Amino acid sequence: MTDDEKYYLRYDDRYRRMHAEGFEKWISSPEDNSGVLKSIDKFLEYAGCEPSGTKIIEFGCGEGFVAEHLLSHGYDYLGLDISESAIEKAREHIGSKEKNSFILADILNDLDRIPDASYDMIFDNQCFHMLVTDAHRRNYLKDVRRILKKDGKAFFRECVQEEEFTQSISNFRDWLDKTGNEYDTLHDYPAYKDGKRYTVKAPRIPARFNSESGYRRELEESGLRVEYFESDGWVCIMYVSVQRE
Ligand SMILES: C[S@@+](CC[C@H](N)C(=O)[O-])C[C@H]1O[C@@H](n2cnc3c(N)ncnc32)[C@H](O)[C@@H]1O
Repeated sequence: MTDDEKYYLRYDDRYRRMHAEGFEKWISSPEDNSGVLKSIDKFLEYAGCEPSGTKIIEFGCGEGFVAEHLLSHGYDYLGLDISESAIEKAREHIGSKEKNSFILADILNDLDRIPDASYDMIFDNQCFHMLVTDAHRRNYLKDVRRILKKDGKAFFRECVQEEEFTQSISNFRDWLDKTGNEYDTLHDYPAYKDGKRYTVKAPRIPARFNSESGYRRELEESGLRVEYFESDGWVCIMYVSVQRE
């Protein structure tokens, strides 16, 4: 396995350990989730698509808390994640009726299974910022553009930084060397068991954030249009569509 592949499985390792200890939904606490779900409802209102007949795909769906919300509204939903442990947990949460709503897939290698212009909406809640090389980011955005229907909308929610990311990155090692990021030290994270909050130690998983202008540049260079941008200085939300020719 290459360093890049190992890096993209870091979350799988984290989910596996947490699930083994009985923790779940640990990335985003229930308090965080309610804010994210409000942002999603605002986006759904903006996009103006009735649940019935609206096809949604989510990349990096994790343990499926966004899925739960969208499925409960009645959308036709499919979630993809590279982590087997996350997909198992998502299926367990949703129950047998909707268990085909999740598939184990790597957004860098498996998206050719998804036909062109086949989804009305794409959700990416902190998955794009996981991609660290220039080529991975470009290829993924190219797929987002290809899979989204011509009048479709995508929702991106990513961590944001003030400075535009201007370095060119060829692989995970190159990224670590150029950014000085480390991912071995243990940090405290909130985790939940039976509705009770705990603090657990886990290695940090650094990601490649960008500034508003940087994200706009990346998306626009891939044939996407940022229709709306908001940021609280830590996380940004973008509503995105396919650029008109
Ligand atoms: C920061 S987490 C966000 C998870 C989820 N969206 C949430 O908010 O709880 C990033 C997710 O992206 C997934 N991921 C990372 N690289 C991926 C890849 N190459 N293909 C598919 N999923 C990937 C991870 O397994 C993880 O679930």
